[in-house]
Amino acid sequence: MLETDVIVVGGGAAGFMCAIEAGKRGLGVHVLDHAKRPAEKIRISGGGRCNFTNLHCSPANYLSQNPRFCISALKRYTQHDFLQLVEKYRIAWHEKTLGQLFCDDSAQNIIDMLLNELRDAGGKLLLETSVDDITTPDNQFRLETSRGPMRARAVVIATGGPSIPKMGATGFGYEIARKFGLSVVPTRPALVPLTFSDAHKEMCKRLAGVSIDAEVSFGKTRFREGLLFTHRGLSGPSILQISSFWEEGKPISVNMAPDIAVFDKLSEARQTNPKQELRTAVTRMFPARLGDELTREFDLKGKLADMSNKVLTRTADQINGWRLTPVGTEGYRTAEVTLGGVDTGELSSKSFEAVRVPGLHFIGEVVDVTGHLGGFNFQWAWASGHAAGRAL
Ligand code: FDA
Repeated sequence: MLETDVIVVGGGAAGFMCAIEAGKRGLGVHVLDHAKRPAEKIRISGGGRCNFTNLHCSPANYLSQNPRFCISALKRYTQHDFLQLVEKYRIAWHEKTLGQLFCDDSAQNIIDMLLNELRDAGGKLLLETSVDDITTPDNQFRLETSRGPMRARAVVIATGGPSIPKMGATGFGYEIARKFGLSVVPTRPALVPLTFSDAHKEMCKRLAGVSIDAEVSFGKTRFREGLLFTHRGLSGPSILQISSFWEEGKPISVNMAPDIAVFDKLSEARQTNPKQELRTAVTRMFPARLGDELTREFDLKGKLADMSNKVLTRTADQINGWRLTPVGTEGYRTAEVTLGGVDTGELSSKSFEAVRVPGLHFIGEVVDVTGHLGGFNFQWAWASGHAAGRAL
């Protein structure tokens, strides 16, 4: 039977980081993953270039029932620490936008770096190894795996969330948490495209492929980034961001022209060109197909000369605050992350050990800490993995 100090279940971003740190401290550490290849989500992330961190990372970029939980780990292993590791391996990188750092070449550079670090730290990676159960028959952990039983002094659950199940994502971490009596904050897909029904769905279909710069808000939360129309609804960074905040049955608000004072522009046009149709004045502000759809959506008719200030104000409000109610999201099939997870109240924010189950740790996405889009989720994986690895 394999006996070791630490078994990390899940060979993704958080699991690797944790195992590397534990190995560096001389502990025997094995990483188990049921997939054929390690860190599949790193491989596909950032369009294959991995948005591995964000220069502006701070606790404000995370959602959790306890927004303070992430502070300690993020402070002890920062975006600059990870960047230093990337530079040690001479991996070429660039800032794309808003502090988002990507590999110039390929996300595989990051995976190779982690594999190398794990090897140097003496850690072992066992792929195609599934874990069926974890028990504590004595003061150690016993894991029933597809390679037979294994024993360890400490177990780290780094199995992520259930988004993209076809890549091997599971809710295994939540099952283990519940089995040991730990509460799990209800989960749902996040950083995910929003879907629509009826007329708005048809409109999105007709506009599929059109993208604009927009400011999307829900309540007091707003994001200004790209918005993309798709065959099923809306996507693009601004929509993915707001999806983490959106509540079912409620509308989102889309400012389609965040840089344009639409009322001023329309009243100026009314003075200089009173015979112009309102729809023409509006259409000019947008790509042609989108302009046509908006004139239909807002029922824009008549000449500017005949428009009162009230009508122009209403039109401006529609364009700067278009209210749309999604029917849902595209779900775990395409979601980049999972909101909710193991309740942070059950864990130490220093060691990520379950307060009531000594030796059992949870790190990364499986925990109820979810980052905004832009490299924040990997930074959480690195930081939480690093903290747990140092505390084992
Ligand atoms: P992660 O999911 O990475 O790893 C979990 C591992 O556990 C997997 O290897 C899985 O096979 C294994 N596993 C699961 N169940 C198991 C079981 N029962 N037994 C054994 N092994 C098991 N974030 C970011 O910051 N920048 C980005 O560019 C992107 N891009 C991006 C694109 C796409 C398409 C997705 C889906 C996600 C992103 N993300 C992202 C989010 C990011 O990928 C995610 O937050 C981290 O991978 C989470 O890291 P973890 O190590 O916690 O889980």
